[in-house]
Parts: sequence; structure tokens; C-alpha cells
Amino acid sequence: MTDVPAVTANEAGSLTVRDNRTGSEYEVPITDGTIKAADLGKIRVSEEEPGLAVYDPGFVNTASCRSAVTFIDGDKGILEYRGYPIEQLAEKSNFLEVAYLLIHGELPTKEQYDNWEHEITYHTFVHENVKTFMQGFRYDAHPMGMMMASVGALSTFYPDARNIGDPDNRHMQMVRMIAKMPTLGAWSFRHAQGKPYIYPDNDLGYTANFLSMLFKMSEKKFEADPRLVKALDVLFILHADHEQNCSTNAVRSVGSSQVDPYSAVAAGVGALYGPLHGGANEAVLRMLRRIGKKENIPAFIEGVKAGNEKLMGFGHRVYKNFDPRATIIKKACDDVFEVTGVNPLLEIAKELEKIALEDEYFVKRKLYPNVDFYSGLIYEAFQFPPEMFTVLFAIGRTPGWLAQWLELVQDKEQKIARPKQIYTGDRQLDFVPASERWK
Ligand code: ACO
Repeated sequence: MTDVPAVTANEAGSLTVRDNRTGSEYEVPITDGTIKAADLGKIRVSEEEPGLAVYDPGFVNTASCRSAVTFIDGDKGILEYRGYPIEQLAEKSNFLEVAYLLIHGELPTKEQYDNWEHEITYHTFVHENVKTFMQGFRYDAHPMGMMMASVGALSTFYPDARNIGDPDNRHMQMVRMIAKMPTLGAWSFRHAQGKPYIYPDNDLGYTANFLSMLFKMSEKKFEADPRLVKALDVLFILHADHEQNCSTNAVRSVGSSQVDPYSAVAAGVGALYGPLHGGANEAVLRMLRRIGKKENIPAFIEGVKAGNEKLMGFGHRVYKNFDPRATIIKKACDDVFEVTGVNPLLEIAKELEKIALEDEYFVKRKLYPNVDFYSGLIYEAFQFPPEMFTVLFAIGRTPGWLAQWLELVQDKEQKIARPKQIYTGDRQLDFVPASERWK
């Protein structure tokens, strides 16, 4: 044993690394709290051997880009879009303005906002053939699967979208996607219900129009309660970006091949579909329904602690004290339930939260309710079936994905995503043809 640590941080902003295999020392510069993986690659036993690499499944401690879109301090529960705190945006802004902010990097002037709103509203309709192929899905198709396929299919309707080097072209595709996602989402919903698809009503605002496409029947005009419109708009704002999460990483990774943005966003929708990401609120509701009544909570918690299952809607890769979005959503619950009546599962959710927050297992692991713990209850109050929850998330997240994609395609340091592996398989086996192996 030696008293000298193998790796020491020095004041000049570098690491001195001594490779105990060779006795060689290396100076590795530290920039913005990171070292370059390529610098570690210079550490090698011999010229023939590959350099040192970092093993980091899930990228838990690897920065993949420089980004000026969203700031998160997980320990302090801070979330900011382009420097603006999420609490202020949720209270004082609206989703379209937040979308503008994320993509353009600053708040719009009145004229810029009016143009933006006009552009988005103008592009809400989709080609009739989109409607035809969506109608071709099975009657019970999951709306998220329909959305993933249809947003990807938009790339075939706008082949010019592959021209990602042209700023005007990029802008047009981003406008189209933000405008059309609610149309695709609403039609996926109507499809599962066996109801006719409703065309956009461009007299309505972004979120009110979405609700109209979802719920309009024979009435001439569908105008949702403004409190519900506001609550859903806030939910869209809360979901609009979250820096380098699983789906954003998927968008960036696929986008790094320089494919068109519809294909990159389709990859993001696919990533969001999974239960550990956007699918968690659907899982929360199923869990609450399975628990059924308050008396069953202790047994359920014991099962979680025994490792039988997870307490869905709890825990976060980044937030380790509280998720600021969960706090805002809890407030939005009250507004929505004022219109729709209280969801009976709310009582179970609150009791579950109370018990878990006092339990040593969850306290020790810093597990707190995340954005998904309460959002499902709100969505259910809107009468969305659980399959629709992730679709709502995807609509909200679209401007964030696009802001991140735009940053990627403009970033000269970015390369095609191509991680390393540690190969664990066999080598140099002799192949014996099937005709001989199966004798
Ligand atoms: N219930 C019970 N135990 C949990 C939970 C949970 N929800 N989350 C984490 N743990 C435990 C793990 O088992 C682990 O315990 P151990 O140290 O005894 O092995 C410890 O807490 C640390 O967990 P990790 O898996 O290392 O945490 P990680 O940061 O990788 O995972 C994640 C974060 C995926 C969100 C996880 O907390 C989880 O699966 N939560 C439930 C699903 C969920 O709500 N997802 C929504 C996330 S928010 C969003 O995507 C919008």
C-alpha cells in the first residue's frame, strides 16, 4: 500500500494519473468539471494495446455534450429552461412561449410570439394520407406506437427535411412537428376509441385545440373549461425538456447520424414509451389500482423493500431531494379536481407517499415522488386512458427534443454516437457447417 493516491486533483485544474501497470504518469486537464475520455485513451500499456476507456452503462457519469438548453441541480431540486426557473414558467408563461424559448434560446418579442403562434397554428393539419395510414392500425393499437410510427412517417411526407444544414429548412420542420404532434396524438386516441378523427380548430389555442381534437363529438365547437386548458398547458411546460435523459439521448444519438428530425424524434418517442421513463405514470396508476385500498399499503411497501417490485413514480436519476415538477403537479391536481371531482386513487397516492417518505428504505436511498407520481391522476381526471399518458408527455417534450437536436446539428464538437464496449464473448472459433454439426 502507498500513501500517495494514484489519482490526485491539483490546483491547476488537471489530474495527475499514475498508471501502476507501467509506472508512467499522465497530466489530464480538467475542463468544466470533466476530463476528456480521449485523454484517458492516451493511457496505455503498449502501443499495440487499446488505451484506457471508461465503463459507464447508462451514462451515469458521462457528459455527452455541451448544452445551453436546460439546467438541473438535482440535489437542490432546481430545473431551469434557458435559465428561467420552471416554477415561474409554469405560473406565468404558456407552452408555446416556452417552446419558443427552448428552441430560440430567448423569450420572444410580441411580434416574434405572434409569428410563432401563427406559424404553429397554420401547420396543425396533416396530409390526408397520414389519416389513411393511421386508420390502418389495428383497433387496439397502443396510441404511443401509433404516434411513434406516424411522426417517423412524416419524414416521407417532407423529404426535404433531410437537408439539415439549411437553417430555414430546420425551422420549418420544427414548426411542423410542434404543430402536428397534438393532431397525431389526438388521432391515436380517437382511433383506440373507434371515434372519427377530428380536424384541428385553428380558432383555438394550442392546448385548447388539442382538447377539441380529443373530445369533440357532434357539437359545433368544443371549448374545454379554461381551468383544464391551463392545467394541461402547465403539464406540457413541465415536460418540455429535461436535459440529457433517455429519450433526449435517443434523439441526439439517432440525430448524430444526420438523419432528418422526424426520424430522430421518432426514436425519442420510442425511448419515452418504456416504463422506466415516460411510461412510469401509466405504471403508477396500475400500481395504485392494484393496491386498491389504504389498508393494503403496508404489505405493498414490504414487497417493494423485499425487492419484489418498484414503487413506481418514486426515485429519479437526478433529483435526490425533491422533483420540482412534482410540487407544481400536486398543485395542478387541486385545480383539475375542482372541475372534474376528486380521483378516488388520490387518497391512496397521498397515503402511499406519506408512508414511503417516512420509511428508512426510501429515505436512505433518497427516493422521492417524481413528476409521474401525480401526473397520471390528473390525466385520468381528464378521462385519458393510461395508454395516452405517454403520448401527452411526448407532445410536451417535442420542443425540448427539437431544441436539443438543433443544438446537436450546430455543434462542431459532436460526432456520430458510437460508444465502446468491453467484449466478453468467444474469439476465433472454427465454424463447422450446419450439415456437419447436425449429423
Ligand atoms: N422503488 C423502490 N426502490 C427503488 C426505486 C423505486 N421506485 N427506485 C430506485 N430504487 C432503489 C434501487 O433498487 C436501488 O436500491 P439498492 O441500492 O438497494 O440496489 C437504489 O434505490 C438506487 O436505485 P437506482 O436504480 O440506482 O437509481 P437510478 O438512478 O438508476 O434509477 C429510476 C432511477 C430509473 C427513475 C428509478 O428510481 C426507478 O425505476 N423508479 C421507478 C420508475 C419511475 O418512476 N420512473 C420515472 C422517472 S421520471 C421520468 O422519467 C419522467
